[in-house]
Amino acid sequence: MGAMMDIRDEHLTIRAWEKRIDDLLERPGDGAALFNVNEDDTREYDAIFLGGGAGGRFGSAYLRAMGGRQLIIEAWPFLGGSCPHNACVPHHLFSECAAELMLQRTMAGKLWFRDMNGVRASIKDVVDVFRKGRVGPHAIMNFQSKEQLDLEYVLNATGTIIDRHTVEVAGRRFRAKNLVLGLGARSQTLTCPGSDLKGIYTYESLVETLDYEPGDTVLVVGGSKTAVEYGCFFNATGRRTIMAVRSELLKVIPDLETRGYTVDRMKDQGMEIWEGSQVEQLEGDSNGRVCAAFVRTPNGIERIETNFVFCGLGETPNSEMPARVLDVKIGPKNEVIVNRQLQTSVPNVYAIGDLIGGPMEMFKARKSGTYAARHIMGEQVDYAPQEWPDFLHTHYEVSWMGLSEQEARAKHKNIITIKMPPDTPDGLNVALPACDRTMLYAFLEPKMSGFQKLIIDEASRRVVGAHHVGYGAKDSFQYLYQLMKQGLTIDQLGEMDELFLNPTHFIQLARLRAGHRKLRDL
Ligand SMILES: Cc1cc2nc3c(=O)[nH]c(=O)nc-3n(C[C@H](O)[C@H](O)[C@H](O)COP(=O)(O)OP(=O)(O)OC[C@H]3O[C@@H](n4cnc5c(N)ncnc54)[C@H](O)[C@@H]3O)c2cc1C
Ligand SMILES: NC(=O)c1ccc[n+]([C@@H]2O[C@H](COP(=O)([O-])OP(=O)(O)OC[C@H]3O[C@@H](n4cnc5c(N)ncnc54)[C@H](OP(=O)(O)O)[C@@H]3O)[C@@H](O)[C@H]2O)c1
Repeated sequence: MGAMMDIRDEHLTIRAWEKRIDDLLERPGDGAALFNVNEDDTREYDAIFLGGGAGGRFGSAYLRAMGGRQLIIEAWPFLGGSCPHNACVPHHLFSECAAELMLQRTMAGKLWFRDMNGVRASIKDVVDVFRKGRVGPHAIMNFQSKEQLDLEYVLNATGTIIDRHTVEVAGRRFRAKNLVLGLGARSQTLTCPGSDLKGIYTYESLVETLDYEPGDTVLVVGGSKTAVEYGCFFNATGRRTIMAVRSELLKVIPDLETRGYTVDRMKDQGMEIWEGSQVEQLEGDSNGRVCAAFVRTPNGIERIETNFVFCGLGETPNSEMPARVLDVKIGPKNEVIVNRQLQTSVPNVYAIGDLIGGPMEMFKARKSGTYAARHIMGEQVDYAPQEWPDFLHTHYEVSWMGLSEQEARAKHKNIITIKMPPDTPDGLNVALPACDRTMLYAFLEPKMSGFQKLIIDEASRRVVGAHHVGYGAKDSFQYLYQLMKQGLTIDQLGEMDELFLNPTHFIQLARLRAGHRKLRDL
């Protein structure tokens, strides 16, 4: 560990922060710890947030806003954590490239689109674009947290828990009434023979260490969000992409028809999906880089020649230190167990975000941080997410909320669905849905223009589920979900004023049926 740098009276611009963070990232482990600590404030800290990711930063901001005193201790030289550094942000960049490349390839030779035959886009170039620009958001968060949110923090130094009130960082001990642990999670890796070869990546190592252009075949292991999001990008670059999925692909999408549309479009793009398949062994070349994989499939062992394997195998919470030092209770997936007030089994110790297990999503990291802060500041809170609107990317954006059609039929006597494209003998080959980012598909390749379904309980006329494959619906789902929880009916939906053309068409379709006393499918 290097020296300590007091930055309390430095007021860096966002651009200056970018440079500082870049410099510190160049030499991990030997840069100075950055102390933005208010030495004039003699109050005891209400909370130390160990880990300055989404959970720690939002929790801190809330606690500070409520008049409390907080300190964030963060190992990286920036706040914001894994989302902007190696997880959500690169994923969205890669997913945008996948969508863009699918459009280019589908339209190749038409209009102004160039011939894409044999064109292979560089994976490394896109990774380099990300690496070059990723400190932009980091810098904004450091600036905003110090200059606009008045947060105290120590960056670029790993904190060590001493006891339930004390953390040591860069040779100094800080004491607080409470500890809030937001230590995040790390990716799980393969354990088969050869899994330590070069050329085997996770979302974390891909953006840190990729230093060559992957060859023309990619093996992706895993079948949920991470594996699919990265796999679709690799496929869209023009590479043979095989997904080895040990059980079923995309079980996370609850509605079977929506899942079917999603998976069919992946297959149309040439993705090879090997369900019920597991990697048994990886073989290396003379440079110690993977050159082949042996995959056990339902039809026997397959040998794949590849110099690039990507693993999306889920994540393990970083609970070792709190378990060892504080003896906090840990669950079967290594998650720190908390109650509905985010308290661990140890008094005055809270845990938030990915550290407490699934859903490992930003909304939960941020909300659990703020709920812990509110409880520390004396508010009665109750937080245990049971359901939430959700999404993932393939080459498309897939969003869902509420019940699947199957769940709705099991729960309610009569279910009405409103769908686009409609269930007609023409199947998907009709020109709707059409909306921003799918207009060209609607006119030139209608089957690719998306899929959507609204599910209504006939008796109460309430919307009980919504599902969408296309682009742009995610934005409306986060609000639609709140309305659905408040009892949104088809009649109220039909009363809204849509900004036509809109990505979901739900409002206008609801209006077509809302007049019916006895509802019918559409
Ligand atoms: C590939 C991928 C894509 C994703 N995409 C999305 C998405 O599109 N939308 C979405 O909602 N969610 C997404 N997620 C999930 C999201 O990234 C996480 O849920 C979120 O970042 C968790 O925030 P956190 O604060 O709990 O943890 P993190 O952001 O991981 O923060 C933990 C922090 O603790 C620090 N730390 C650890 N140990 C110490 C220590 N001893 N001392 C000091 N600091 C320490 C780390 O440096 C880190 O900054 C994605 C996840 C992955 C893997
Ligand atoms: N919002 C987003 O867009 C987004 C994007 C990425 C990640 N995330 C979040 O980040 C977390 C991690 O996501 P994830 O997709 O990596 O993990 P995940 O949802 O836990 O899925 C893990 C996948 O890997 C498979 N798997 C696990 N261990 C394996 C092994 N040893 N061998 C072969 N296959 C194995 C699982 O198969 P089984 O199904 O058979 O168990 C599953 O398909 C999740 O909470 C997710 O919601 C969110």
